[in-house]
Amino acid sequence: MNFKNQTILITGGAQGIGLSLSEKFSDMGANVVIADKHKGTANIAQKFGGFGYVCDVTQEEQINSFITFAEQTLGAVHCFISNAGTIFVDPDHVASASNKTWELSWNLHVMPHVYATRRLLPGMLDRKYGYFVNTASAAGLLYQIGDAPYSASKAAAISFSEGIAISHGDEGIRSSVICPQYVASNLLGFSNPEDAKNLEGLLSPEVVAEKVFEAMCREEFLILPHPRVQKYLSKKVADYDRWIDGMRKLKKKSIDKRGSAKPLDILHLV
Ligand SMILES: NC(=O)c1ccc[n+]([C@@H]2O[C@H](COP(=O)([O-])OP(=O)(O)OC[C@H]3O[C@@H](n4cnc5c(N)ncnc54)[C@H](O)[C@@H]3O)[C@@H](O)[C@H]2O)c1
Repeated sequence: MNFKNQTILITGGAQGIGLSLSEKFSDMGANVVIADKHKGTANIAQKFGGFGYVCDVTQEEQINSFITFAEQTLGAVHCFISNAGTIFVDPDHVASASNKTWELSWNLHVMPHVYATRRLLPGMLDRKYGYFVNTASAAGLLYQIGDAPYSASKAAAISFSEGIAISHGDEGIRSSVICPQYVASNLLGFSNPEDAKNLEGLLSPEVVAEKVFEAMCREEFLILPHPRVQKYLSKKVADYDRWIDGMRKLKKKSIDKRGSAKPLDILHLV
């Protein structure tokens, strides 16, 4: 697939992976429109030659307005990258996060993908052409120790992305799901992408964007910027019980060595 002159919408585009993807696609000749809750989104987009729209992606009517803005500005949308997200940390045990946190995780990591697909799919089916890309996480494939709402919602995002591919792949609709492991963005408390150079397994948002772009050109469904995730996933599928044992050992190692098993502790051990 060639993205030159295509209209690509990217949520969570004001920083991190979303911004790097926006810059990459813009460099490759696409017309990029970003949405983010960040007030300076339009100015951020202007810097790479795109358009920006302030929007809370948990609200269906705001996603619809974002898409209408993009269509009125640039015409038909070819590709929607639903990428906005955040992490949580279990306060105590696996079910200890509040209902409010669980609801936010679902409303941020699953429903925006559904809203965008609901709004764009009919037109794309008429044109027999469209591409939906959802940023999930390796946590959705492998579980993020210390963050149950994040892991469960990202697993659901992977399932919904599979649904798009299976239900509409024969009708000209493409679907990919991006499952990075650790990325040096604000989400994990990294303000400098260069930090990725100092920690094994940590990728900069720019490197992730490069890998995602290449995989999308090949129209790959499962996009794994960290190759080792494929290895872990193969082990999980081959022997689920052994994989659970391994994850328990990792949790214990984290508590022994770092005093806790929160997502950022695990980053230093994998
Ligand atoms: N950083 C990682 O290690 C990592 C790993 C795997 C997956 N991911 C996923 O990648 C995606 C991007 O994360 P990132 O690392 O670039 O994080 P980031 O915090 O740098 O960027 C996330 C962006 O989403 C925006 N956003 C959050 N909630 C929003 C809302 N309700 N409406 C509109 N915009 C909203 C934020 O303002 C921010 O600009 C997320 O879905 C995240 O779960 C990140």
